[in-house]
Amino acid sequence: MFTSIVLCTFASLLPLGHASLPLVINTWPFKNATAAAWRVLQSGGSVLDAVERGCARCEVEQCDGSVGYGGSPDESGETTLDALIMNGDTMEVGAVAGLRRIKNAIGVARAVMERTDHTLLVGQSASVFAENMGFVAEDLTTNKSLNIFSQWLQSNCQPNYRKNVFPDPSASCGPYEPRATLKRTKRAQHASRLSHDTIGMLAVDRDGHMAAGTSTNGMTHKVPGRVGDSPIVGAGAYADSSAGGAAATGDGDIMMRFLPSYLAVELMRAGADPSAACKMAISRIKRHYSEFFGAIICANTTGHYGAACNKTPGFTRFHYMVSNSKSDAPLLKSVDCV
Ligand SMILES: *[C@@H]1O[C@H](CO)[C@@H](O)[C@H](O)[C@H]1NC(C)=O
Ligand SMILES: *[C@@H]1O[C@H](CO)[C@@H](O)[C@H](O)[C@H]1NC(C)=O
Ligand SMILES: *[C@@H]1O[C@H](CO)[C@@H](O)[C@H](O)[C@H]1NC(C)=O
Repeated sequence: MFTSIVLCTFASLLPLGHASLPLVINTWPFKNATAAAWRVLQSGGSVLDAVERGCARCEVEQCDGSVGYGGSPDESGETTLDALIMNGDTMEVGAVAGLRRIKNAIGVARAVMERTDHTLLVGQSASVFAENMGFVAEDLTTNKSLNIFSQWLQSNCQPNYRKNVFPDPSASCGPYEPRATLKRTKRAQHASRLSHDTIGMLAVDRDGHMAAGTSTNGMTHKVPGRVGDSPIVGAGAYADSSAGGAAATGDGDIMMRFLPSYLAVELMRAGADPSAACKMAISRIKRHYSEFFGAIICANTTGHYGAACNKTPGFTRFHYMVSNSKSDAPLLKSVDCV
């Protein structure tokens, strides 16, 4: 008894602050998504419901043009979607990648988790599954995505994500053939923040049950078939109700090589503070790709949270949203990149 009183006193003096349950936290200033998830928790819904509803809100709002339909057309002009949802109690995961013609990607991801024994479905087959489950097939193309695509064609298919190919990827469109002389395009230039702002969301309820989710339409002008980090468990997001949760955003092609969400959760399991865990996950990537664009959010089961990002000339501060019982409305938070 004495010990716990002392601990409580200390806890209130320490600048750890901001711990309060339940908690919703998501990448970027996607405020309506946070509010939607928060409302679900307030009305007694589960953390999975909260994450699904929050991410779905972004799919409908086409958050930043990088979530949902009508954004990020690939090299053939099509918008395809990636999403993931994870139950931190049971470690069940459902995900879809390269999903075509279905707007509600996070909903399909949840159906994969709850209506199949599988974890990840891809491409046209994922769409067939979705239609079988009652999701409506519709065109994901909009005038906006058509415009982005036609402008890209007019600029000789620049920028693109090809390298070491003929014709010179900085001069014209394909078909491409491998070339012996290695030649790099200036990837960092177009792998910039506007082309991929995934929503990644974590929800924790009063009892520490945790869920994580992501939804995105990937990178603009991606090579068709490209799958990013978002639907890859441990990369785009991870949740374990006995340790914590994390979700990443940014240059997924690079970030997925390091499973940053899994790493951050394991660091929290080993005792790291959420902010420190986030920073360490970012610096692991930075060691190999000093200029990569990316950020990560972390939360533990007592509602402590943090975020981190990699500092580059065009990206020095990362914004994210938080809702917990300390405030009625979602709070805009930010962190200086390191
Ligand atoms: C957020 O929701 C409000 C209220 O429904 C709406 O007016 C606003 O346009 C939404 N924001 C975005 C970015 O869609
Ligand atoms: C898209 O463009 C077509 C033709 O340019 C136009 O008729 C249509 O109204 C536009 N749709 C929207 C939603 O703006
Ligand atoms: C969550 O992180 C805070 C801040 O480091 C720490 O005080 C708390 O004990 C952590 N909670 C758990 C369950 O590890």
